[in-house]
Amino acid sequence: MDLKLRGKRALVTGSSRGIGRSIALSLADFKVDVAINYLRHRSRAEETAQEIRDRGVRALLVKGNVADPEDVAHIFASIRAEWGGLDIVISNAASGVLRPARELTLHHFDWAMHINAAALLPLTQNLLEMPSDGEKVMVAVSSLGATRAIPNYTAVGASKAALESMVRHLAAEFAPEGLRINAVSAGTVDTDALLHFPNREQLLEAARRRTPAGRLLSPQDVANTVVYLCTEYASMIHGQVIVVDGGYSILA
Ligand SMILES: NC(=O)c1ccc[n+]([C@@H]2O[C@H](COP(=O)([O-])OP(=O)(O)OC[C@H]3O[C@@H](n4cnc5c(N)ncnc54)[C@H](OP(=O)(O)O)[C@@H]3O)[C@@H](O)[C@H]2O)c1
Repeated sequence: MDLKLRGKRALVTGSSRGIGRSIALSLADFKVDVAINYLRHRSRAEETAQEIRDRGVRALLVKGNVADPEDVAHIFASIRAEWGGLDIVISNAASGVLRPARELTLHHFDWAMHINAAALLPLTQNLLEMPSDGEKVMVAVSSLGATRAIPNYTAVGASKAALESMVRHLAAEFAPEGLRINAVSAGTVDTDALLHFPNREQLLEAARRRTPAGRLLSPQDVANTVVYLCTEYASMIHGQVIVVDGGYSILA
């Protein structure tokens, strides 16, 4: 299958592990060079980089906190110095405190908002300034918690709702400048992120039972849709949130 992505250059935030890693490897499968952003786990990022190089494309490690505009500027400067430009940004990195709303502080709330939503702004602004090979594309990774109430998910859910709203606003403002941005909203995926949920086993079992497609979502399922949105076959999809959940959220 030729998705016409060969030779493009992508940054995937939070791609040392989990869904971001799958997105990075899937882009590399279609001959996209990938810059791997991470914050703490360098060895995991290096493993992902090696797997990318094994696919015959370039990999670049770019450490940095996406919630820090200086770090983001530095990430883009490194990519520009190495590759001369950038075509695709996947805003995937996320973090957040998972606890009942009664125990949440505004610090927890700000933490989620900055990393999961506000970070999209400097990512977009920096991409706009980068040389690119034609259209610039962004995909933000969201979750069902943006539109549904999930136990212990108040701060992260609110940040994902903000993220989805930003995607619409940025899409409208920057489409005329050749930037296309969408979001993929995923159902439950068994990654390290779930280790922070006090009710991880329950969540996984409930997702398995309730999903009409009959199985849990994998990181690859999410990556497949993200990659599609990066292609010219999605060129008239702007500012949308595509749900990938095996039908979980269509049930009453
Ligand atoms: N797992 C799910 O069930 C699920 C469902 C729906 C949506 N999602 C979304 O999918 C995305 C990926 O989730 P995941 O489950 O794969 O997460 P994960 O396994 O916890 O991985 C998180 C990644 O983000 C990086 N990261 C965290 N904070 C960062 C920061 N401030 N700056 C830069 N990088 C940072 C981590 O880097 P280090 O390795 O260096 O720590 C890691 O690469 C998130 O947007 C999440 O909300 C997940």
